[in-house]
Amino acid sequence: MINDKLPKIWYGGDYNPEQWDAPVWAEDERMFKLAGIDVATINVFSWALIQPSEDTYDFSSLDELMDRLYKNGTYVCLATGTGAHPAWMAHRYPEVTRVDVKGRKRKFGGRHNSNPNSPVYRKFAAKLAGKLAERYKDHPALVAWHVSNEFSNYDYSDLSEAAFRVWLKDRYGSLDALNKAWNTRFWGHTFYDWEEIVLPSELSEEWDGNRTNFQGISLDFRRFMSHSLLECYKIESDTIKEHSPNVPVTTNLMGFYDELDYFEWAKHMDVISWDNYPSLDTPVSFTAMTHDLMRGLKNGQPFMLMEQTPSQQNWQPYNSLKRPGVMRLWSYQAVARGADTVLFFQLRRSIGACEKYHGAVIEHVGHEHTRVFRECAELGKELGQLGDQLLDARSAAKVGIIYDWENRWAINLSSGPSVALDYVNEIHKYYDALYQQNIEADMIGVEENLFKYEIVIAPVMYMVKPGFAEKVEAFVKAGGTFITTYFSGIVNENDLVTVGGYPGELRNVLGIWAEEIDALLPGMSNEIVMDKAWGNLSGSYKCDLLCDLIHAEGAEVLAEYGSDFYKGMPALTVNNFGEGKAYYVATSPEAGFLKGFLANLCADKNIQPLVTAPEGIESVQRVKEGVSYLFLLNHTTGDLSADIGATERMDLLTGNKVSGSAVVPARGVLILSDKN
Ligand code: GLA
Repeated sequence: MINDKLPKIWYGGDYNPEQWDAPVWAEDERMFKLAGIDVATINVFSWALIQPSEDTYDFSSLDELMDRLYKNGTYVCLATGTGAHPAWMAHRYPEVTRVDVKGRKRKFGGRHNSNPNSPVYRKFAAKLAGKLAERYKDHPALVAWHVSNEFSNYDYSDLSEAAFRVWLKDRYGSLDALNKAWNTRFWGHTFYDWEEIVLPSELSEEWDGNRTNFQGISLDFRRFMSHSLLECYKIESDTIKEHSPNVPVTTNLMGFYDELDYFEWAKHMDVISWDNYPSLDTPVSFTAMTHDLMRGLKNGQPFMLMEQTPSQQNWQPYNSLKRPGVMRLWSYQAVARGADTVLFFQLRRSIGACEKYHGAVIEHVGHEHTRVFRECAELGKELGQLGDQLLDARSAAKVGIIYDWENRWAINLSSGPSVALDYVNEIHKYYDALYQQNIEADMIGVEENLFKYEIVIAPVMYMVKPGFAEKVEAFVKAGGTFITTYFSGIVNENDLVTVGGYPGELRNVLGIWAEEIDALLPGMSNEIVMDKAWGNLSGSYKCDLLCDLIHAEGAEVLAEYGSDFYKGMPALTVNNFGEGKAYYVATSPEAGFLKGFLANLCADKNIQPLVTAPEGIESVQRVKEGVSYLFLLNHTTGDLSADIGATERMDLLTGNKVSGSAVVPARGVLILSDKN
């Protein structure tokens, strides 16, 4: 647990007093107190201030700030400041700036702008992290280390190219193995010397973001870049740990951010933290799923909500305000799904540059008489009252949904069968079908122990990595229920097709053969026609996107296609395998089908909805020491009731006792403990 020193849900966020003069600081302190703020994330972009030149470090303002905050009762999440390098560094050592995908060498500017394979950048970043750790390791305000900021974006410089070759040598051992893995006899790409290999940029193999001529090289490049940026994180984190081994180290992730394999990253982070910036029209179940993914990165360990805006953002096309009550509601949504901190970007709104219209706890008017501040202060008070009750409480889900970054890269790069295939969206359809029925799910990686679950869903499992099929077989054999879909089991980890019939390595457990894959144009659809009524499913349902043309080879056919030349071919199958069952959904079904289908499977496994509630109520629980904390979140603008069953529970926020029908106020939250 990270919150030992301050045993409550930490409350606060990014604080940049360096952008202000001293008289303002006293006001900040006063207002932090009013708002119940107890943690400030500082120094996030202060590299240029702390290190004004190659040989000079000046920690005087940071010393003062740390002391001042501590005296005011504010703890510190201390950032290393390496999210943007100083101008002098770019000027003196041009190698620290990046080269973009079009091959353009960048000049100084922006942020998240350092070449991850620049030895100069790595040396300076590690040195700064080391100096900070040495200096502040015993400071009483320190509660966490925050390395850099939102690691992101790829680099296409010569330095990265050279490092890529080294990484490839390590991965493949020989050019023969590499040529094979990349299938380089296609379009005459055989490599005879490592030096012949270049990065897959728009000058070589790629265009339009995810279009490539060579999936093998493009996929490896993504692995390599994720690894390179992770190396940068590790260099700082390792250096910090030499001095400060007991304070948790993290960096702020970005949910489903495409470019980094966060499951790999999580192995090297003490605690996951992430920045949650949904827009007004982001489905709340998508945000819920993202929180669950962040929790899943470290096998269910609670995470830090490192950033969210109190009111609005500046970088979206339309920066709507969070409606009254929504900031509180979404904060509790994070807590409900595993967050042990609620932190904002930012505590005081800056006055210049591109984030001056970004929301903040303290707005430009400077006083506390604002809607936003009042809402922040009310939440601060509540979180204070909750104390440590929820800290470290875990999920109790019996359904796991698999998500894998390498699979996503491979699907995005695949060149066919459909540009409309969006892996994350397909995952969300399954997640949402459970969410709408108040059934909890964990988001898990391919390395997770499947035996923790009764049901494992792996939508569009296009890439099957070594050992995964065996793992699924063992899980199903022992009684588990496994579901996968169209366009699964097609390739191995190098994006080479597993020959002998789709879905390749998953064919045995599924008992089917997918002969062809049809892509439907936008607006086109087919139907899934149930052979006979089955629990919550009967009649026919719409499907679209992709349709696998499959043959049952041992599996039982539950539904067929309703039209086109493959009318009558199986659209849904189940294979009894050992003690368990493996389902294949051959196409992308409408929501109603998925709801009924998953309800049937949960009923079969005796997995009950947490509550009976109308649409608009989100329910999820955290469990600790045998006590269940049931969260009911009302995402609508009217009061709603949920049936929570006969057990009497106590609302942690009001002290009220509830059983049977519980009223959840408009945009309100109940946290119901079943502790006697
Ligand atoms: C990110 C960054 C912050 C800030 C916010 C604005 O999450 O980490 O520094 O720019 O976005 O939304």
